Amino acid sequence: MNFLHRRANRLHLEEVPLAHLAESYGTPLYVYSAGALTAAYQALEGALAGVPHRICYAVKANPNLAVLRHFARLGAGFDIVSGGELARVLAAGADPGRVVFSGVGKSRTEMRAALEAGIHCFNIESEAELARLDGVAGELGRVAPVSLRVNPDVDAKTHPYISTGLKQNKFGIPIEEAPRLYRLAAGLAHVRIVGLDCHIGSQLTELAPMADAADRVLALADRLAEDGMPLAHIDLGGGLGIRYRDETPPDAAAYGALLAGRMCGRRETLLVEPGRYLVGNAGVLLTRVEYLKRGADRSFLIVDAAMNDLMRPALYDAWHAIEVADPQPERVPVLCDVVGPVCETADFLGRERLLAAAEGDVLAILSAGAYGMSMSSTYNSRPRAAEVMVTGNEIHLIRERDSIASLMAGERLPA
Ligand code: LLP
Repeated sequence: MNFLHRRANRLHLEEVPLAHLAESYGTPLYVYSAGALTAAYQALEGALAGVPHRICYAVKANPNLAVLRHFARLGAGFDIVSGGELARVLAAGADPGRVVFSGVGKSRTEMRAALEAGIHCFNIESEAELARLDGVAGELGRVAPVSLRVNPDVDAKTHPYISTGLKQNKFGIPIEEAPRLYRLAAGLAHVRIVGLDCHIGSQLTELAPMADAADRVLALADRLAEDGMPLAHIDLGGGLGIRYRDETPPDAAAYGALLAGRMCGRRETLLVEPGRYLVGNAGVLLTRVEYLKRGADRSFLIVDAAMNDLMRPALYDAWHAIEVADPQPERVPVLCDVVGPVCETADFLGRERLLAAAEGDVLAILSAGAYGMSMSSTYNSRPRAAEVMVTGNEIHLIRERDSIASLMAGERLPA
């Protein structure tokens, strides 16, 4: 089912014309389709149905409370990386017993909050972190459930900034050191081993690295079981890619078959931590053209969204499709860069695009549901965008636009 479609040439998300939303709520505006969130979740759920599993949505991809509540109601667990994400998951009404806590730098305060909430598991990334967690749990008179995140040293074949499974990356425990750390963990009074975890990177478009990582992790799980440390779950991370342009990532069925095939007949529950796959293609960023600036060398469509709203093009040279919401027949197509008002050359949303647009037209930047709003900032003192969720023809404002006052709210002048 395609949630983004044209009717009478007007771009719609579900039953709602996007230009109408831009008019009502202003721009820049993030818009998500509830139906697309559900469809992606259910595709993955169906693909994993053959084995005991839990989908833990990676909150960092899109942490809006309405998105979290939507997945909680579908039965998801959550993968968090900070105390802030824990608070959001709890505020959305999710069950803390379905939360896994990832990340290399968990603070004592974050550990305490997660222990008090009663999360399912801490994914431990170093010996020092293991020792700290044992200490914090001891102070609270609790026992912390842990997995070790191992680094399987496989090349995920993705952008270097979002590749995490190589030896030279800061993530995880080298897989060859894991048995020693598991034995160490088994001897600690305030931790309890429950699982094994890995995550090799994001926007993965090939199955081979995923298969490779899974095989290495499962071989380690077997070895641990032989050593008397059977595990309750295996967490194979997130990373399933989506189509932005011409990528051909595996679909949910192929990904699910790969994982379920390997887990079939095993005693552990499978956990996965998808972010982008569940939300990426469910969202668009709407922006309005301020100016068409024609130049001898290049023309620019200067729009009211910028790198602070969608950082992916500036940071990873990421490509997002850009479409005119309501094409006007009198416009002439122009080869142009779509840029924002921020004072940086990296402030582009698309380069060398052929677009028939002019001042006042609304553009939709596609595949912006993941790592769009969540990575936005107020750089150049630009209020962060509003967010809307649509379902059928219903429209819900799920985040108000920042006000200028809110940008300055915490600031104090020295006496
Ligand atoms: N689990 C862990 C431990 C992670 O670090 C991540 C993402 C995920 C799960 C979810 O990965 P996903 O399924 O979304 O690929 N800002 C970048 C992506 C950074 C991903 C960081 N970690 C981007 O815009 O492409």
